[in-house]
Parts: sequence; structure tokens; C-alpha cells
Amino acid sequence: MEPSDLIWMNGDFVAWEDAKVHVLTHGLHYGTGVFEGIRAYDTELGTAVFRHQDHLDRLFKSAELYYMPIPYSLEELRSATHELIGRNGLTSCYIRPIAYRGYGQMGLFPLEAPVDVAIAVWSWGAYLGEEGKRTGIRAKVSSWRRISPASLIPQSKASGQYLNSVLAKIESQKAGYEEAILLDDHGNVCEGSGENIFVVRDDQIVTPPQSASILDGINRKSVIQIARDLGHEVVERNVARAELYLADEIFLTGTAAEMCPVREIDDHAIGEGRPGPVTREIQATFEDALNGRAERYRDWLDVVKVPSKTA
Ligand SMILES: Cc1ncc(COP(=O)(O)O)c(C=O)c1O
Repeated sequence: MEPSDLIWMNGDFVAWEDAKVHVLTHGLHYGTGVFEGIRAYDTELGTAVFRHQDHLDRLFKSAELYYMPIPYSLEELRSATHELIGRNGLTSCYIRPIAYRGYGQMGLFPLEAPVDVAIAVWSWGAYLGEEGKRTGIRAKVSSWRRISPASLIPQSKASGQYLNSVLAKIESQKAGYEEAILLDDHGNVCEGSGENIFVVRDDQIVTPPQSASILDGINRKSVIQIARDLGHEVVERNVARAELYLADEIFLTGTAAEMCPVREIDDHAIGEGRPGPVTREIQATFEDALNGRAERYRDWLDVVKVPSKTA
């Protein structure tokens, strides 16, 4: 992570090194926060935030699911993000808005604790590496199951829920793999520790449905649309673990990782052991969409209007 100059905290722009919270912040103890991961790209139209409205919508929905009223409007957070990118002089960046129960009340009943909001932006390269995006990564099916809807809310992007992803990620990296694939509580394939998953077999693209405890990924939605626009059949249905090993191609989607092919799972080569033609085709269009080169998907870009520091 490369520090930038300023962070937005509860309506103020503060220096990166001064963006601090009290040690008795509720969210720090109990995970009572919700957040988003968003990216802005340096496009021909200028710096543009990919599917900004959709990400902020999800932030508000995640918060609602945990009874957390965000004390700003979506539009206020959107324009604060634009201004923050401009004031930091960034042309492309990762964007991390977070709303969390702040300082003032301890114990498990949080509704009297304030809801604080912060937005940070910084330069961040491809999460699974540029090489991974090009040649594919090696993944391992985790011994940890994705959080069950019987205990938590998989559709909410809530801070505390990420302990599940952290355990899976540590396990996979210690075992020498780049990413973990989690099964849901019924043993069906769910998703990566921070990405949705797609399986290509016999000219059909399959991805686990909402009922498989996935996070409803914004890049998942985008890739489903792109794949269909390119004439591919995309089916949302339960995926058995063995279908991973039998797949012709597999890829992951997520804001941090973008679209990343998987070349091996549990030491089984996927297809030829390198990114296949369907993955390549969709990836090329997806990258065009992110970078403003695809006319058809220009609506997905929220062009940052504030002049940057270097402009
Ligand atoms: C657990 C999990 N699943 C899936 C995703 C992919 O979601 P998106 O495409 O909206 O970034 C993410 C990343 O936000 C994630 O953390």
C-alpha cells in the first residue's frame, strides 16, 4: 500500500498519518463495520470510478443489514470521493470507504454507538499480481467453509465477516498457493477469499448462485453481462467441488483482483494449465470496460470531475 496525502473522515480531509481512531472504537472490538473496495482508472475520459453508484448502493445495504444508519447521503460520499481523488492528485487508485460503529459505547448492543465514516484512496496494483492476471494463479480449496447464512449475512460486506476470508487466505498462502476457494456450508463451491468464481466447461460458463452464500460481486455482475453480450451462455447454479478439477477454464472476479485466470486447483491443472480462450476473450473486453475503451460499457464509469493536483 502506498500512502497518499489525505483521508476523508466524517466530513473532513485529514492528513494520512492523522487518520486515527480511539482504541475503544466499537468496530475494532466487535467487527461492527461495513466497507467497500472500489477502483478508479486512468481512462481516455479522465479518471473514472468503476460502477461507483453500485458500490455505494452495496455499502448502504450492507450497513442496513447490520442496523447501521450511515449519516451521509450516497451523493455526499460520491462527491467526497471525487474530491479526495483530486486532492490527492491520483489518476488511478483503489478506494476504501468504511462505515463503522465508533467510540462511545462498549458491549454487544451497538445502537447507541456513533456511526463514523471514512474514505481512503491509494495506489494499489493488481491484488493477485500482474503475472497472475496474465498466466493464471494456483488455488487451493480451503478447509474453512464460507460463513453460513445461518450465522451471519454473506451478502453484507461487513468487517467482522472477513475473519473467515483471513483464515482461508493464510491457510492457502502457508500451503504455497496464491488464493483459497471456499465451499459453502453445504459443500458446494462458493467463492475465493475476496473474489467470485466462474467455471467454463463444454462452452458453458457456470457460477455459484446467490443461495450459495456468495457476496454479490459487482465485477461478477459485469462479467456475466459481458460474457452474455459476447454470445456465451452463463448459468447460475450450484457447482460441485469436482467440477473445479474437470473444468476447461476457471477465473475469478473482484475489485482488488480484477479478472484473474486460475491455472491450477489442488494441484490439478485446469484445462491446459494456462488461461483458455473464453477467459481471454472476456478478460480483454472487461479490461476495455474498466479502462473506458468499450463504448458499450461507458455507463459503468463515473468520471471524476474535480481537477487533480497535477492538472
Ligand atoms: C468475499 C468477497 N467475495 C467477492 C468479492 C468480489 O466483489 P466485487 O466484484 O464487488 O469486488 C469480494 C470483493 O469485494 C469479496 O470480498
